[in-house]
Amino acid sequence: MKINSFIDCPNFFGRRKGRRLSKSSELAIKEGKKYLIKKKDLTKMFESNNNIILEIGFGDGDNLINSARLNSNFLYIGADPFINTTAKCLNKLLLHNIQNVAIWPDDIRKIISYFPYNSISEIKLLFPDPWPKKKHQKRRLLQDEFIDIIYPIIKPKGTITIATDHDVLKKWILKKFQKYKKFEWLAESAKDWQLRPQDCFETKYEFKSILCNRKPSWFVFKKK
Ligand SMILES: C[S@@+](CC[C@H](N)C(=O)[O-])C[C@H]1O[C@@H](n2cnc3c(N)ncnc32)[C@H](O)[C@@H]1O
Repeated sequence: MKINSFIDCPNFFGRRKGRRLSKSSELAIKEGKKYLIKKKDLTKMFESNNNIILEIGFGDGDNLINSARLNSNFLYIGADPFINTTAKCLNKLLLHNIQNVAIWPDDIRKIISYFPYNSISEIKLLFPDPWPKKKHQKRRLLQDEFIDIIYPIIKPKGTITIATDHDVLKKWILKKFQKYKKFEWLAESAKDWQLRPQDCFETKYEFKSILCNRKPSWFVFKKK
């Protein structure tokens, strides 16, 4: 695969490529092609897997890989357009010979509308780019239109877990989901949003936030 084919998404404001890739990352991209999702294989993929977890913006892949290793009966779909971390994740998938992960190395918005309705058991969105400035809020992934797209693809009673350490984004998330009446916020007490849920692993951005003395929150919403 040509590396430049990662870099052609007009509405994406994040980074597609950082530092020059190391030799091992270049090799992982070459060898890890078998993990990449092709649109033509989507129907078969959804037909042959009953329990599918989607992680949007998997970064270095810490949560994706640990979860997949723990639950070999589930299929994990990871989407992330940033080539440097995607290469790192492919490297780990190859190293551990993981069989239950499929990678979309691009903006999730380019593929999610091809997912069948009621097909995803859980969505994880861990520490999405906060775009904290008001003038950049349109760049946040969680927009009303995006919630309209994900709602039907989540199974009934399926969940979306969103983590962030940015106060502006915390308020934004709660406002969006409270307005969208078809999800129920599962928190019953403060510890339900102040502590990482048991089915999530520590990621690089959670680690960073704790180093910087920020307080991450995890919001879990269930489809009614
Ligand atoms: C702040 S990082 C967090 C990475 C990881 N989840 C963590 O907690 O360490 C946000 C990630 O989301 C990815 N991302 C941003 N917009 C995205 C989109 N539209 N679709 C998929 N991934 C996206 C970025 O490339 C980046 O890797």
